[in-house]
Amino acid sequence: MVCGLSFLVAFWLHIALCYGETEFQRWDRWWSYEGLTGPPAWGNFNQKWKLCTHGGRQSPIDILPTDLLYDSNLKHIFLSKHKVAGVIRNTGHDLTIYLNSSDSTHDVKLTDGPLSYQYKVAKIVIHFGSTDKQGSEHRINGKSFSAEAQIVAFNSQLYNNISIAEESNYGLAVISLLVSVNGSVSSPIGQLFSASASHVQYRGQEKALAKFSVHDLLPLTQNYITYEGSLTKPGCYETVSWIIMNKPVYMTPEQFGLLRQTVSTDETAPVKTALENNYRPVQNLNRRALRTNINFPEQKSAACDIKREKAYTVNQYLSKLK
Ligand SMILES: *[C@@H]1O[C@H](CO)[C@@H](O)[C@H](O)[C@H]1NC(C)=O
Ligand SMILES: *[C@@H]1O[C@H](CO)[C@@H](O)[C@H](O)[C@H]1NC(C)=O
Ligand SMILES: *[C@@H]1O[C@H](CO)[C@@H](O)[C@H](O)[C@H]1NC(C)=O
Repeated sequence: MVCGLSFLVAFWLHIALCYGETEFQRWDRWWSYEGLTGPPAWGNFNQKWKLCTHGGRQSPIDILPTDLLYDSNLKHIFLSKHKVAGVIRNTGHDLTIYLNSSDSTHDVKLTDGPLSYQYKVAKIVIHFGSTDKQGSEHRINGKSFSAEAQIVAFNSQLYNNISIAEESNYGLAVISLLVSVNGSVSSPIGQLFSASASHVQYRGQEKALAKFSVHDLLPLTQNYITYEGSLTKPGCYETVSWIIMNKPVYMTPEQFGLLRQTVSTDETAPVKTALENNYRPVQNLNRRALRTNINFPEQKSAACDIKREKAYTVNQYLSKLK
């Protein structure tokens, strides 16, 4: 323990003294998905991150079908369809695709669904496992998926940029795509991340991407589950409206193989650690509402003429998957 702590102190000093980085960059390297700097410790590092330990509206969560409430007020989501340029980067925590934001006439807009504001897509982050049995952050009825791609948008009506938005009320909206392994089918998201993975094997590497449509990454469904939660990395700010699509997208085993070759350390690091298993464990729901626009056919009940509140056996698509 003493050894571990002194290692951390040495590590900190090394970063602080050798690189002269900004405060943000230093803190951004000061966490991981396992060991002493893993999720249970995130809240201890920095006063600004205390929601990671003490927050009551945290993400991700396990979505239990019996907790879902049908809400007829939920609209279909709107997401712009045009193509945009972007760059993929190995952040050391995940692979992130940043959209080119310099051209504001071509913003990728996200509106409607459960949202009351207009949001602008800024990036797409992927979390994935070392085996097919794990990797997603959200779970459905206890089941993990092999990966989860998160389309992150910020409230562009209230805030100038994602940095200020992610710490502010109604700052972010995230569309979550749960990814399953499929030997015969690959969705556009599989191609997008795997084709460039070998160019961003090490932390800090990046590669420009050909223009693509964020809308094309969505599964063919308008059904989703929504709840109010948090960032799934430090500072765990409780500013996110989550939208979880009710149908998986697919990647092939070969595409997963390419993702799993990426590492979380620099090219020059003496010890290389894999990027895989970069997901936060599920958090307590704490009586938050889990709403859905999935309207199951009503069961005939002659004896009863009052509509009862129901829990739905939701997720026909997701819960049938092995
Ligand atoms: C981003 O968009 C601007 C404005 O359209 C363009 O000049 C620039 O080359 C684009 N960057 C990339 C990486 O495509
Ligand atoms: C984001 O916006 C805030 C408030 O407008 C500003 O102070 C900050 O410098 C901006 N950050 C970046 C990275 O542009
Ligand atoms: C693979 O994808 C096809 C087409 O969507 C689907 O019918 C099949 O069930 C999937 N297989 C697995 C193992 O998920």
